[in-house]
Amino acid sequence: MNPSPEICNKLIDVNDLEKPGWRGIIDEMHELMKVPERNRKSFCHCTDRRSLIHRAEIESYKHWEYPWTIVHGSFEPGMPVLDCGCGRGFLQIYLALKGCNVHSVDVSTMKTKDLRKFWNLVQKYKLPLKENRESAIKNLAKRYNTSINFKVASISRLPYENASFDRVYCISALEHMNPGEDEEAVREMCRVLKPGGRLLITVDFSPVSLPDRRSYNANDIVKMIKISGLELSGKLDYACADWRSHLAELEMHFLEKNAHVSSAAFVLLKR
Ligand SMILES: C[S@@+](CC[C@H](N)C(=O)[O-])C[C@H]1O[C@@H](n2cnc3c(N)ncnc32)[C@H](O)[C@@H]1O
Repeated sequence: MNPSPEICNKLIDVNDLEKPGWRGIIDEMHELMKVPERNRKSFCHCTDRRSLIHRAEIESYKHWEYPWTIVHGSFEPGMPVLDCGCGRGFLQIYLALKGCNVHSVDVSTMKTKDLRKFWNLVQKYKLPLKENRESAIKNLAKRYNTSINFKVASISRLPYENASFDRVYCISALEHMNPGEDEEAVREMCRVLKPGGRLLITVDFSPVSLPDRRSYNANDIVKMIKISGLELSGKLDYACADWRSHLAELEMHFLEKNAHVSSAAFVLLKR
């Protein structure tokens, strides 16, 4: 599916979820992940037999961000691609299963303050959790019978040569970094991208700054594009005629309370 350049760089749009191609991608992912049919209906939560609520295997907003990245990424088998801030995200597995040569990075569970705090609690209460992200990704890849070249590294200091990848993508990770560190990260992602390659980014978006979480507005994104020195594919389209209705619509679709933020996505080209 070839995207129209005019609609590349935009806010999350729940209408996209109704496009057969986009819905088909999430259905295919659920199929690959063997998510039970009954749990695929909800965008946000899965329930088990005891009606306990779990986070969905593919989180709510990712039902938009993953198809958006796939549709605009034009990934091809054999292509070296880099997933920055991969987490336990399923997109890396999906692309590996499609034949891409997938590399991914994320910070060590022990390297950020919040995660260290979390790990201390895990140890205190003797919870049966492994802290090693490397083995977590390895196990995930093994479960789906594919391979991922994962490295523990910060996006702001990528352990790769210049011009190593045809595609670099970063889904919902920049807003989790400190101010300034995200700028370094953007420079690094550009550095490791090959000429002719695409950088695909999604970030939490809000027109106003929020007290409890980091998000980007349109000016922040324009600044980030300038820092990258890359060319924007198409136009930015972050105008929202009625912000309240937009958030209410998102909340309804994603079944989340207090959806203060939207998500914005953009594609940059390296000439
Ligand atoms: C909301 S999760 C998104 C995970 C994944 N991209 C997905 O689509 O599911 C944000 C991820 O960014 C990672 N992250 C935060 N700061 C980072 C940094 N400096 N370098 C690499 N990863 C980072 C976090 O550890 C976390 O896994």
